[in-house]
Amino acid sequence: MNVLVIGNGGREHALAWKLAQSPRVKRVYVAPGNAGTAVEAVNVHLPLDDFPKLIQFARAQDVALTVVGPEAPLADGIVDAFRAEGLRIFGPTKAAARLEGSKVFCKDLLRDADVPTADYLVFSDPDEACRYVRERYPDQEQEVPLVVKADGLAAGKGVIVCSRREEVLEAIDQIARQRVFGEAGRELVIEERLDGHEASVLAITDGRTIVTLPPAQDHKPAYDGDRGPNTGGMGAYCPAPLVGETMLSWIEAHVLVPTVHAMKRKGAPFQGVLYAGLMITRQGPKVLEYNVRFGDPECQPLLMRLKTDLAEVLEAAAECRLDRIGGLEWDPRPAVCVVMASEGYPGKYAKGRPIRGLDDAAGLPDVKVFHAGTALADGQVVTSGGRVLGVTALGDSIAAAKRQAYTAVKCIRWPGAWCRKDISDKALG
Ligand code: AMP
Ligand code: GLY
Repeated sequence: MNVLVIGNGGREHALAWKLAQSPRVKRVYVAPGNAGTAVEAVNVHLPLDDFPKLIQFARAQDVALTVVGPEAPLADGIVDAFRAEGLRIFGPTKAAARLEGSKVFCKDLLRDADVPTADYLVFSDPDEACRYVRERYPDQEQEVPLVVKADGLAAGKGVIVCSRREEVLEAIDQIARQRVFGEAGRELVIEERLDGHEASVLAITDGRTIVTLPPAQDHKPAYDGDRGPNTGGMGAYCPAPLVGETMLSWIEAHVLVPTVHAMKRKGAPFQGVLYAGLMITRQGPKVLEYNVRFGDPECQPLLMRLKTDLAEVLEAAAECRLDRIGGLEWDPRPAVCVVMASEGYPGKYAKGRPIRGLDDAAGLPDVKVFHAGTALADGQVVTSGGRVLGVTALGDSIAAAKRQAYTAVKCIRWPGAWCRKDISDKALG
């Protein structure tokens, strides 16, 4: 069959690479793709938000399965649009994608389903929100462990973690009055700040059966030691020893299963990737947020380890017959993915810098360089985004996988290239 992957990041390169390995797959198309997907698949110059054109393309090229990478087209109803035309697609409907698209929807669902999460309140009036904060924390100097979140999608930036009352009031002002995240700030969630370590637990579900993937850990802050501004994720590794087998079963039973059931009860059955962003606290795992897609960069080390035919699994999920797929098979070796970024990221960054050394890195054993923000210019691979590459390696231990990933990183260069040096150290410490 022919497969279409929607998106242009490292996650989509990993998906295309893995799907292309399937004996069932004849051709993989990626819309719009990057310089990496151009090698392993066929790039299609169509924007992700032009559903009629994407549908027309899928029809014309006999695409039997479409796989959606990012959240925006899911929140905009790409799955509903494809299904309405009788096309098979893997991902949640617009109604189900609200789990990521609305923090209020997500928190209310978690509360109704009795899934552990931070205590919270919802506000639509900033004055009322500020009044609440001042009344509850009358002492300006005291510690105020609160998190302020814009309800809607804000490219991962709509969450402000605070420890002082003035920070909370400023966050409310920015989100709800200044509307720095636009309409996403029409409603606010104010919740208690949780302390602990974060982990990502993803599952593939058809709405009835859940296949839980091994736990992973992302690195969101830009700089070593988790300092600096938040990014889309500077690296990830899998499995994360922080979540052992017992805890993973607990998360499946007390987080994922009740969520899938609650979505069904709401009339929005969830099919696709259910990604729980968790804080492992002293009281156990609590949900920070849900995403409705593969994580980027978590997808890269996950798929590096997957031995089962991904096309078969996603097709089964899209057809509601995941119960007939046996468990997934994983490479026992851990994988580490180091993101190489452009100078200036996550702020403004330059584009168009030629990347050297990709072939040297690709020649190393157990290494795969996934492209994210890359493009082809006159036959040259150049930078075109903030997160440029996801250099991923397998190893007999996390330490060995880390060493191999950084050996590959050293082969690659362009002016201003940088990365975190401590990806996966949390697992080692
Ligand atoms: P979210 O988009 O909800 O995952 O939030 C982004 C990041 O903000 C998370 O990865 C956490 O690092 C942090 N965060 C969100 N909610 C909380 C919370 N209740 N307590 C502490 N940190 C949080
Ligand atoms: N790695 C975080 C995310 O995909 O949202």
